[in-house]
Amino acid sequence: MIETVRSLSTLRESVSRRRAAGKRIGLVPTMGALHEGHLTLVDIAGQHSDDVAVSLFVNPTQFAPGEDLDRYPRDEEGDRAKLEDRGASLLWAPGPEQMYPDGFATSVSVDGPSEGLETGYRPHFFGGVATVVTKLLLQVLPDVAVFGEKDYQQLQVIRRLVRDLDIPVQVVGGPTIREADGLAMSSRNAYLSAEHRAIAPALKRILDDTGRQAVSSPDGEKAETFATEALISAGFDKVDYVALRHADSLKPVTTNEIEAGAPLRLLAAAHLGTTRLIDNIDPRSV
Ligand code: PAF
Repeated sequence: MIETVRSLSTLRESVSRRRAAGKRIGLVPTMGALHEGHLTLVDIAGQHSDDVAVSLFVNPTQFAPGEDLDRYPRDEEGDRAKLEDRGASLLWAPGPEQMYPDGFATSVSVDGPSEGLETGYRPHFFGGVATVVTKLLLQVLPDVAVFGEKDYQQLQVIRRLVRDLDIPVQVVGGPTIREADGLAMSSRNAYLSAEHRAIAPALKRILDDTGRQAVSSPDGEKAETFATEALISAGFDKVDYVALRHADSLKPVTTNEIEAGAPLRLLAAAHLGTTRLIDNIDPRSV
């Protein structure tokens, strides 16, 4: 039976008890509305630890005014049942007053991998993520924490933050889990109309085509233009970015670096109506 904890003191007692029993603790931070992508991260955490804790907190500081904080899907009961089924043993579900008590005045800011890409369109986002993830890691003090590659820039920001602040946790990335037609699983896919849902898998197809092109005739800029035009032709309303980057630093890559075998990531964000989809691939593995 999964233990649900809502106060920091109870969380600390529960984690201490588990540690005293010799357990290694894994953490999967989430905002709930769990799908197979999250549950795969729980499985991965289970391969690296004895007891898997999952946090469920829809973090207001990573949403800008006018974004979807109020309508973000919430289903704690359903989430708990799925987690129990996957063998997680602790659900950390704090309220906003627990995470951000009156007078809260601290924020964590990461440069480097947070520059560009998402930050160009959601400038508040990584400050909110870095602050809440730092808090979650310090609250649970897990041995290992697992984050999805679906949010690839977020994963790189968290890796940097953990290294820079010497937080004693191993960060593990879990693969993007996709629907049968290639659409990356995301809690926000629930917002898509039937018409937009039919267009959405084009994002992955176009990333694959662009990735192949970028590796076989290395010209990052040309590949990005090709992808943007292909997304608009497929029915996307707006493309925020398609960007070929170094897989670790997320800096732009030169043709020489591509030819020399630098690790690459191709990342994109595009809109279908009011829904913004993000996805990314390793262009060397398509
Ligand atoms: O990826 C998410 O679901 C969130 O950004 C995270 C890491 C749980 C922080 O709120």
